[in-house]
Amino acid sequence: MPIGFYDDWVKSADEESKHFRLVCGCLEELGSHYGDLPAHAGMWRAAEDTAGDFLGRLSVVPMVLEARGLDVTPGMIGVFRKAGMESAVAALETIYAEEVGHVAYGSKWFNFLCGRHELDPKETFHELVRKYFHGALKPPFNEEKRADAGLPPDFYWPLAEETPQGKRGPDV
Ligand SMILES: [Fe+2]
Repeated sequence: MPIGFYDDWVKSADEESKHFRLVCGCLEELGSHYGDLPAHAGMWRAAEDTAGDFLGRLSVVPMVLEARGLDVTPGMIGVFRKAGMESAVAALETIYAEEVGHVAYGSKWFNFLCGRHELDPKETFHELVRKYFHGALKPPFNEEKRADAGLPPDFYWPLAEETPQGKRGPDV
């Protein structure tokens, strides 16, 4: 891979370690600590499932799981703002801003590899997410930030869960 690929992921790892420290600080402020509360292992499971599939890893980790963070973080910021916990608001605002970049690195290098292997990016993304990600993607999506990160609606809407009104399209 070009050197820019490594630069992007080293920057991402550096930011993730900062995010971890920010969240640890919030937990400690509340008299808790990392490991004190149950948490899911979705990210680690996805990493294991895609250990042998480079395009699969890029599809599921940045372009599905980290993109999901863009959908849910504004709501979490609202909860902490309402609760008056300004340190958590500040931590989540930093995380939110930097995660857009992580999703962008994912889509940039996914598209780069699809070009190299003459694969259709959208079709390949759908195939790999269906293979490695268990379950449908959950709307509502943060369409604005996903677009900022280079993730078009026709990538994620066809993978969205059925609603009582039926599956919605990107133009709805
Ligand atoms: Fe991230």
